[in-house]
Amino acid sequence: MSESKKFTRREVLIAGAALPAILPLATPAAGPMAAPSDSSVTLQVNGETHRLSLDSRATLLDTLRERLGLFGTKKGCDHGQCGACTVHADDRRVLSCLMLAKQAEGKRIVTIEGIGGNNGRLHPVQQAFLDHDALQCGYCTPGQIMSAIACIRENHVGSAGEIREYMSGNLCRCGAYAGIVAAIQQATA
Ligand code: FES
Ligand code: FES
Repeated sequence: MSESKKFTRREVLIAGAALPAILPLATPAAGPMAAPSDSSVTLQVNGETHRLSLDSRATLLDTLRERLGLFGTKKGCDHGQCGACTVHADDRRVLSCLMLAKQAEGKRIVTIEGIGGNNGRLHPVQQAFLDHDALQCGYCTPGQIMSAIACIRENHVGSAGEIREYMSGNLCRCGAYAGIVAAIQQATA
């Protein structure tokens, strides 16, 4: 039976330092990675049509913020976990960080900038958030309001518990949840 050789810690460290010389770094087999292709996308956002040339991997969130200057829609986690990026697509709420801009083509997209009335008039849900102090830092608020509008439109307002359940995908680090539920109840009424 062969006895396996024992290495000291010093020998392992010395061997490790020599590895790059022994094993040359792998070179890419197929040359540089292909550049992402641009595609042309037509988006309808807040009633306006935009024709854009975009990286085909661009999310709706990044496109709204970086190409259309609609900074009201916030990037929190960028992974579908916080709700800060909520917008409406054909009257359904969606997480714009999880939707490619290309997927939004042909849909009516509405962001927080698009819900108010003429001359700066607030949407009733916006007014209710103010009336109930349903925000502190305000970072989550555009997403909360877009979800709140969908909550009322889809009639998930039978009780405070039902509202909380529907709104559970919208996180608020400031803990303004009690005011948010009260605001939704006021706007519903
Ligand atoms: S930024 Fe989209 S869910 Fe958090
Ligand atoms: S108001 Fe600050 S995160 Fe919600």
